[in-house]
Amino acid sequence: MKTKHNTRFIIAISGASGTVYALRILRYLSKLDCELICILSNAAKSVYSAEMGGRDLQETILNIFDSNPAKLSIYPDEDISAPCASGSFEFDAMAIVPCSMNTLGKAAHSIADNLTVRTSDVALKERRRLVLVPRETPLALTHLRNMCALSEAGAVILPACPAFYTGKNDADGLIDFIAARVLSNMGIKQDIVGEWNNGK
Ligand SMILES: Cc1cc2nc3c(=O)[nH]c(=O)nc-3n(C[C@H](O)[C@H](O)[C@H](O)COP(=O)(O)O)c2cc1C
Repeated sequence: MKTKHNTRFIIAISGASGTVYALRILRYLSKLDCELICILSNAAKSVYSAEMGGRDLQETILNIFDSNPAKLSIYPDEDISAPCASGSFEFDAMAIVPCSMNTLGKAAHSIADNLTVRTSDVALKERRRLVLVPRETPLALTHLRNMCALSEAGAVILPACPAFYTGKNDADGLIDFIAARVLSNMGIKQDIVGEWNNGK
């Protein structure tokens, strides 16, 4: 009898602005009973360093999992022979957060020359949950068409567009809003932001 794998999630971080969203999600997942696979592009490391005064992305992630390092594996985007590059490696959901237009375009066309896009391709072909969090503005027609292709293929397109109606409008509140939407769309019950209750 085939035994089900432990609960496994994949968070790929590409070189769009807003790595803080991914870090908030990882912080939440670090407290859950699950296995985490993190994929980092080189551009993600550069953008994080530019946005966070020279800080190192991998080090920041390792610090989040300081008390529970066994549940985390980090792979560089070049490592196309990592386990998650194969359809036989089961996982529950993947998010690409933030998702650059470069990665989005490649994912839309199955140009699987790095681990992020190969794994997103696996998610689509194996009919697993795939959430992409694009961050760009304004959008070119090519970007919109790529999003359309991915949505037709079964992915969830969840732009990094926080809402302001929760009452928590500082940076943390806005980051939490996106992190909560990503987790929910990955099928993960979260308590960062509650359901809208129409003032009740
Ligand atoms: C500081 C900085 C911010 C960037 N922000 C974005 C962004 O918000 N969205 C985007 O699509 N690309 C952005 N880029 C460009 C991507 O990093 C670039 O296209 C890169 O090739 C993406 O590679 P990846 O998809 O492999 O991570 C940014 C680049 C830099 C240096």
